[in-house]
Amino acid sequence: MHAVGIVAAAGSGLRLGAELPKALVPLAGRPLVCWAVDTLRAGGVAQVVVVVPADERAAFAAVLAADVVVVDGGATRTASVRAGLVAAAEDADVVLVHDAARPLTPPDVVGRVLTALADGARAVVPVLPVADTVVVVDEGGVVTDAVPRAPLRRVQTPQGFDRATLVAAYAALEDDAEHTDDASVLRAAGVPVHTVDGDERAAKVTVAHDLFLAELQT
Ligand code: CTP
Ligand code: MG
Repeated sequence: MHAVGIVAAAGSGLRLGAELPKALVPLAGRPLVCWAVDTLRAGGVAQVVVVVPADERAAFAAVLAADVVVVDGGATRTASVRAGLVAAAEDADVVLVHDAARPLTPPDVVGRVLTALADGARAVVPVLPVADTVVVVDEGGVVTDAVPRAPLRRVQTPQGFDRATLVAAYAALEDDAEHTDDASVLRAAGVPVHTVDGDERAAKVTVAHDLFLAELQT
């Protein structure tokens, strides 16, 4: 099975509020994007495409290994992954899409996703249970309902796909479609999405507190 990895790193990181694009923000002295590439490689994905903000291409190329393919991203994560897919080798059987914003993802998670793909799944996501009570509120912030928590899962990356299935699902999307992850693109195309165990360490760096927590773990 030949796997190619796509790292979505073209976001600006508005909620983190750093001076740099989020994927270039250092964690223990190394840009987040470098951690994400290393996770894929350590998990068994040799070939990696990194999707970057078009105006920051040089800054990313300067910190990434020479054999990483660097591609210009788009205005949304969906557009960025679409650009990465174009650059992903056609001889790959499977594609793993990973967020640069999940720097401490253990390589074991990559391994579990690859194993599920090798076992025949066409779409695989790492998930974790929900610990908090989840409620629905009205416009005034008053609780109107509670959602049963047992069947709920939090979805992480890397998410793995049969390459041809992923390409077809993206091709079927409207040009301006916006999804927060790739499994939802596959679900929109009617493809069953399987789950494997995620890992709390694969948490996404979204706000400054997340980066603070990540620094404590390095
Ligand atoms: N991403 C991307 N292209 C975009 C937007 C996001 O490749 N146009 C990537 C980000 O770089 C990140 C991942 O998708 O690794 C998850 O997105 P998110 O955490 O929302 O990052 P940002 O969009 O950069 O942050 P924010 O929404 O706070 O601006
Ligand atoms: Mg975003």
